[in-house]
Amino acid sequence: MDAQKRITELTNILNEASYRYYVLDDPTLTDQEYDKYLRELINLETKYPEYLKPDSPSQRVGGTAVDKFNKVTHKIPMLSLANVFNEAEIKDFDAKIKKEGITPEYVCEYKIDGLSISLIYENGILVQGITRGDGITGEDVTGNIKTIKSVPLKLTQPIDVEVRGEVFMHKETLQKLNKEREEQLLPVLANVRNAAAGSLRQLDPKIAAQRELDTFIYYLMEPEKFGIKTHYEALQFLKELGFKTNPASALVGNVAGVLKYINEAQKVRDKLSYDIDGVVMKHNNFLEQQEIGYTAKYPKWATAYKFPAQEVLTKLKDIIFTVGRTGRITPNAILEPVILMGSTISRATLHNADYVISKNLKIGDIVSIKKAGDVIPAVTGAVIERRDGTEKDFQMISVCPMCDTPLIKKNDQVDYFCPNTSCPARKINSLIHYVSRDAMNIEGLGEEIVEELYNLGFVKRIPDFYSLKDKKDQLLEFDGYGEQSINKILENIEASKQSGLARVLFAIGISGIGSKTAKVLAHHFGNIDLLMNQTVEDLEKISDIGETLATNIVNYFQEHKDFITELKNIGINMNEVGSERKTNELITNKKFVITGTINGYTRNEIKDILESYDGIVSESVSKNTDVVIVGDAPGSKYDKALSLNITIWDEPKLKEIFASLH
Ligand code: IVH
Repeated sequence: MDAQKRITELTNILNEASYRYYVLDDPTLTDQEYDKYLRELINLETKYPEYLKPDSPSQRVGGTAVDKFNKVTHKIPMLSLANVFNEAEIKDFDAKIKKEGITPEYVCEYKIDGLSISLIYENGILVQGITRGDGITGEDVTGNIKTIKSVPLKLTQPIDVEVRGEVFMHKETLQKLNKEREEQLLPVLANVRNAAAGSLRQLDPKIAAQRELDTFIYYLMEPEKFGIKTHYEALQFLKELGFKTNPASALVGNVAGVLKYINEAQKVRDKLSYDIDGVVMKHNNFLEQQEIGYTAKYPKWATAYKFPAQEVLTKLKDIIFTVGRTGRITPNAILEPVILMGSTISRATLHNADYVISKNLKIGDIVSIKKAGDVIPAVTGAVIERRDGTEKDFQMISVCPMCDTPLIKKNDQVDYFCPNTSCPARKINSLIHYVSRDAMNIEGLGEEIVEELYNLGFVKRIPDFYSLKDKKDQLLEFDGYGEQSINKILENIEASKQSGLARVLFAIGISGIGSKTAKVLAHHFGNIDLLMNQTVEDLEKISDIGETLATNIVNYFQEHKDFITELKNIGINMNEVGSERKTNELITNKKFVITGTINGYTRNEIKDILESYDGIVSESVSKNTDVVIVGDAPGSKYDKALSLNITIWDEPKLKEIFASLH
């Protein structure tokens, strides 16, 4: 089959598979099949860039980073919604429509807690995605929008259309992201909306792509162009075009139907994978919507019922300090147990001393508790009026609560640290981290068991886990563990030796290395020896790795050479498992600089291809540079390359080499 035909075929297969997976939640291809087709497509597109289609799924991984977003004026302003908070206000809203001589017929929808966007299609192809901004002018975030898998790059009909809807982040995605950020000592994101907004405004679409955003589309512009008369029909039409619409949207009839819908929504709210903060009621008939009209800010034919804030009051009994594996000291609120959104809360993180001070919390205060992003409980403030004078001021500690070592504060960071690497709290938490799910994933070794094994002297250091098998009889002497469960744990410990490099790199706890960076490193180097031989400069060339992280990695391996050898001798697999490394003698481990533009490729695409073969791409030419890739209108890097006598690849040469890759 010729290349152009195959590119079209693969584009269609992959787009259909994405649609089935992300919109209909009914997958047709396995991940492996999908990846196989995508690799084949990217290879073909690399060889024949002239056949790349505008709806190619290869664009989903994120194109070129931008310096700033262009401002775009909305063709029709993006309005907001008025809010109502109770049954009486809902009935008032309903009465106003009736006053116009119209019999209301409502569609109810969830009010998704995200941010609204406008998507513009020409001839059925996505050409622009714009944020709401101030409603009049938004920002062009097309590159980021394309990375959202539920946004169709091509519609089922070749029409010109603008649609609007909500971009949001699933609750679980935020939890994962915050876990990763904590590991990297970055501040956690407060809720799904902030996280979605921040992700959509990333200048580098590759980062946006990693954030796994999702969409629900709920608004069709100029419906008369398509002969559509009601909002409910418009939702069906949007679905037919390939958009993800919210399955809970319903034609509920009159105001009684609205109240019933709200009741149901409140019941299922906690069970949804995404956050909703209310219910939107919209009058169904478009012509009548125009009759009812608009204010400057809101349509008068729709309103948002906002759920009551889910906040409860309880007593802050104490503030205790915990020491993490990195030595970070965290103040924690000990609370009078209270039920919030179905779960009992007796403890909440207070992040750091600055947080406690900014909220002016005193021990003994009545405090309000909210679930941030509906997941993590947060203490949002004290009820000052309820103080009776018995409350005690918060005092930050100056020595470690576990080992009495004086605490330190690093540069301008907000956190205090226990600098003692032998601090028992740090050691226990390091061991707990080692066995945890995203690290070596040793089932059966929960936090309490690890702490007990440490306190009983069985496991003081990571290698001790692997010699537990020689101490089975002693373990059996302690209460609580049957022979069967001990056998199972020992088996799991043995099996963990084959977890692979990414997990090991995360598990050993190199400062600032979260599970994602560990995967990047494992994928890039394939084995630990290669990684250990890198300089700070080499590591910095990998995207995602900055100077601090690179320095941490190099320092860690300098200080832990013997430890790594010890792990190897135990039989822990230090190679990346699961994927073969691609190599090419012209690219692998060679250092590249790109200057000028190459027809058919963006700079990032060239970089990605080189990096997928473990080539190293950097910004400036030095005598260590192996190859300078020179396109149209090259800069001074070209002159420097000539003066240093460095190998030059021009456009035909580069394309010839790329074409020979598999
Ligand atoms: S309709 C002209 N429907 O709520 C009507 N908005 O507070 C435009 N929102 O800016 C909005 N879910 O970001 C509509 N099902 C839904 C919605 C929804 C969430 C957001 C939207 C809007 C804000 C207004």
